[in-house]
Amino acid sequence: MPTKKRARSADDAISLLKKDHEKVRGLLKKLESAADRGDDRAQDLLAQVDREVKIHSQVEEEIFYPAFHEAARTKEENKLFFEAKEEHHVVDMVMPEVSDSAGGREDFAARTKVLKDLIEHHADEEEKQMFPRAKKLFGREELRELGRRIKERKEELGAE
Ligand SMILES: [Fe+2]
Ligand SMILES: [Fe+2]
Repeated sequence: MPTKKRARSADDAISLLKKDHEKVRGLLKKLESAADRGDDRAQDLLAQVDREVKIHSQVEEEIFYPAFHEAARTKEENKLFFEAKEEHHVVDMVMPEVSDSAGGREDFAARTKVLKDLIEHHADEEEKQMFPRAKKLFGREELRELGRRIKERKEELGAE
């Protein structure tokens, strides 16, 4: 009997997005302590966070969020979509200010801390509210299909 290639659950959309969140959480932690110490590596870490967050947000906005919006049945689910989109927008607005070299070490440390809180809050809300809803709204096959599209798009965007 031919062995059918079984899609691993690790490749579904939610697992992929969660993996990105973990990566960004790790970078933010390093960034916070580097900025606190006044370590030069902070700028590098900030650039990495910026890059990861941009690609991640883009695939969510192009692929995952529209699918979620389309599948949303309740007012609450709709609200999750609009709030998530708005939070991306706020991160986009704050990001250039954080990388601004104006101010001293303490200003920079404070800006990175605010950025970290903002991104963590957003990722937590997705994981605690939007993703569990998405699991109910999408079938397993649909989540895998979204995962395939996310993976492909990330490669196009030059994700590592
Ligand atoms: Fe997001
Ligand atoms: Fe996310």
